[in-house]
Amino acid sequence: MVVAAPTGVFQPLDPAFQADPYPCYRRLRDAAPILKDGVTQFVASRHEIVAHLLRSEGVRSDWPEPFQSLRMGDGPAKDFLLRVVLHREGPQHLLLRQVLGAGMRIMSPAATARRIAEHTDRILDEALASGELDLVSGLAVPIPVAISCDLLGVPEADQPLIRDWGMETIKAFTMILPEQDRPGVSAAIDHLRAYIRQAWDDPLGHPLGTALATLDTAAGGAFDRDETVDNIVFLLVSGFTTTVHLLANMFGAFLEHPDQWRRLKAEPSLVGAAVEEVARYDAPIQYISRQVAERMEIGGETLRPNRVVHLLLGAANRDERVFADPDRFDIGRQPNPHLGFGAGRHICLGAGLGRAEARGVLDRLVARCATLEPDGPLVRKPMQVFRSYERLPARVRPC
Ligand code: HEM
Repeated sequence: MVVAAPTGVFQPLDPAFQADPYPCYRRLRDAAPILKDGVTQFVASRHEIVAHLLRSEGVRSDWPEPFQSLRMGDGPAKDFLLRVVLHREGPQHLLLRQVLGAGMRIMSPAATARRIAEHTDRILDEALASGELDLVSGLAVPIPVAISCDLLGVPEADQPLIRDWGMETIKAFTMILPEQDRPGVSAAIDHLRAYIRQAWDDPLGHPLGTALATLDTAAGGAFDRDETVDNIVFLLVSGFTTTVHLLANMFGAFLEHPDQWRRLKAEPSLVGAAVEEVARYDAPIQYISRQVAERMEIGGETLRPNRVVHLLLGAANRDERVFADPDRFDIGRQPNPHLGFGAGRHICLGAGLGRAEARGVLDRLVARCATLEPDGPLVRKPMQVFRSYERLPARVRPC
């Protein structure tokens, strides 16, 4: 199989694209239902086609070993990707979803909601006293890190390390991991593995013990220790890294659309719909890539086995065939069948938790902040697959 980063009609490495991908997405949607990109790749940008392919058995996520090796090199990142639920298919994929699903239920929804409110209030107490808050480093990062660590029982003292290793590890979820990033990503994955293994070897002494025992029982011996450890690492890391971007994009959208902030203040019951609108309007995961397993005709093109197809969630979420006035951030939008959490058999396992975090934080902001305004330029974080902000300086005033 020939593999390369997408280079033709879709250029996720282009800084202009990373700054604002939406004009490019519009051009792609207008051009054709699905576009050929070079000899081996396709790009799907319309909602109907992206949704169809996400649900199709004919495209798969379990990339073969030589492909992962080409993407990641031959270090720990390759083995990690080969083992995690996201890149498995068939019965083992289903079983891994069940095992990790058991992990998601360790903390009850009520306890989760309470923790989110407590963490948010602690941060807001200080911010409202000073009147200043960087919404990325001050809120979007610490809340998901704390909740993912609370869920699995990682002690507070270890959370900064877990955060840094997680943020490094997530770089592996890209098309081609650049050479210069490989040592850092490998080291972070190895640190996280060692952390989980150490807790496992001392289950009574480490607070993670309960979570590990729950996951081990749910797995029923179906996976070896390395597979289980890597999937726990994935659960921990995917739990906070994407949620950081959802929160950052949510704050960014409100800072850029003060009319929608005022609307939410007047109608706080729109919090749930507002979170869905953020996941549509500025999806934290902009695209996912699949390997074609079965020949198929779709949108006037023939997809043959071993071709790569990029499914542009960010473009599908702005498809004018499905969403009226799609470039408008409208917190009352109904219905909102966005694909921000994916669809089909790999649909996000933590969507409930991610939504609960975004709603919980927004609830407290609306209840406690009279105003939320930019206090300097809003700075985007240039990334390939993810979309987020680096800095969101804000002025906040108490109610
Ligand atoms: C809140 C923001 C989040 C967003 C936007 C998001 C988005 C996604 C998307 C688009 C997928 C599908 C990937 C694919 O089909 O290739 C996915 C899968 C997944 N997500 Fe999330 N996610 C979020 C939060 C979370 C959280 C909080 C957790 C766990 C605590 C989590 C765990 C997972 C797992 C385990 C999968 C793999 C499922 C599978 O392969 O069957 N996610 N996520």
